[in-house]
Amino acid sequence: MYNTLLTNLENGIYTITINRPDKMNALNQEVMSDIDNVMNEVYKNTEIKSVIITGSGNKAFVAGADISEFSGLSQQQGMALAKKGQDIFFKIENSPKPIIAAVNGFALGAGCELAMSCHMRIASDNAKFGQPEVNLGLIPGYGGTQRLTMLIGKGKAIEFLLTGNMMEAATALQLGLVNYVVPQDQLIEKAASILHIINSKAPVAIAICINAANHAHTGIKGFEQEIFGFSECFSTEDLKEGTAAFLEKRKPTFKGK
Ligand code: COA
Repeated sequence: MYNTLLTNLENGIYTITINRPDKMNALNQEVMSDIDNVMNEVYKNTEIKSVIITGSGNKAFVAGADISEFSGLSQQQGMALAKKGQDIFFKIENSPKPIIAAVNGFALGAGCELAMSCHMRIASDNAKFGQPEVNLGLIPGYGGTQRLTMLIGKGKAIEFLLTGNMMEAATALQLGLVNYVVPQDQLIEKAASILHIINSKAPVAIAICINAANHAHTGIKGFEQEIFGFSECFSTEDLKEGTAAFLEKRKPTFKGK
């Protein structure tokens, strides 16, 4: 049904697997559109009580937005890209049915942002989190500057946003970015065990609870600022250099313009 996703519905738990293992499950526009459509299905299908989102293979959850799609984008196109990405991730965050990210490897850039838009995160012990956009001359555009700050606090979030450093699963647990860390072969089982408990509760109460918790942080301004900042990067030479360097497998030389 979806070109880039595998889906499986069992006992009310819908497992969605991002399936581009040869590209570390990077989110290109086709995957984003599939996620958008699968979320419509999650909202509508009454058989679906809760959701697990994971990545295909044992190396990556999602290693970011697809960098090859960044070359040649104008500032305006950058703005549209961030807006669309944020809208799709809001659809995940605002889902009335609980969604757990089962992070089975690299969760970088848009991958970390995808995991953070889910209601909970469970990581395998080989998982690594990060917002490495600055390495490309870019910033996160799908909510990363806002949700990382909400989840781990501004001080630590700014460190990871500005250094682009990766965070080990144990650190993610310590900082509250993930709920549990488990061996990789127990990841889906752990997520399912939590969802089985939630699925036995009153669905309306669960939906209202998610909605109320989402309102703990209502500031939309930060998200709008992020879209503007993300798009501004597309007017720089540094972003062209950063993305070209990644694709050519070399270190970038940034000029500050
Ligand atoms: N966009 C597009 N392609 C990506 C990608 C991304 N975000 N992340 C990985 N890939 C591709 C690589 O280009 C490579 O493709 P190729 O085999 O056709 O050359 C393939 O996935 C495997 O990745 P590779 O880099 O060879 O694996 P690795 O194990 O050496 O490194 C990572 C893994 C995740 C550390 C590395 O791929 C990486 O840094 N990815 C980009 C992370 C990033 O900057 N994300 C934010 C984007 S905004």
